[in-house]
Amino acid sequence: MADDKPLVAVLMGSPSDWETMKHCSAGLDDLGVAHECRAISAHRQPDVLHAYIAAAEAKGVEVFIGAAGGAAHLPGVMASLTAKPVLGVPMKGWATEGLDALLSIAQMPGGVPVGTLAIGKAGAKNAAILATQILGISHAACAEAVAAFRKAQSERDTTLPPV
Ligand code: RP5
Repeated sequence: MADDKPLVAVLMGSPSDWETMKHCSAGLDDLGVAHECRAISAHRQPDVLHAYIAAAEAKGVEVFIGAAGGAAHLPGVMASLTAKPVLGVPMKGWATEGLDALLSIAQMPGGVPVGTLAIGKAGAKNAAILATQILGISHAACAEAVAAFRKAQSERDTTLPPV
């Protein structure tokens, strides 16, 4: 698992999404999953997006994560370009605290699914874990990494501070 060939591609619609999506990248790092992150806009750079998805598949990416705010069509367009699993993370955006993006990403018409996560940082973190769980079906090291993470999380100290 520690080779350089990315198994996960993390795309976001804008560099402004990185502040949130850095938590996804950090989660994948913690789980030991080789990945790459790119800011590619579905509406500003459609040709770049098409070429990127084809190239990523060709070099072995197995799970795609797409993050976007507002109209948030990036994950849906990604899903239109690949039959690999696509996970979508709604960004908070500028108008409705991310509800617009959540509905946009979740409401894919039947036939081209996007697995939709929570808005913002929680979704970014969970996208990393869910992507690793998907990889774990065929990569034992990924399944073991998730199992170890879950065990450590369960064993975390939950003692409350004194009043
Ligand atoms: C979306 O619009 C991006 O995913 C981002 O969340 C939002 C704002 O983009 P910028 O105007 O900051 O580039 O496409």
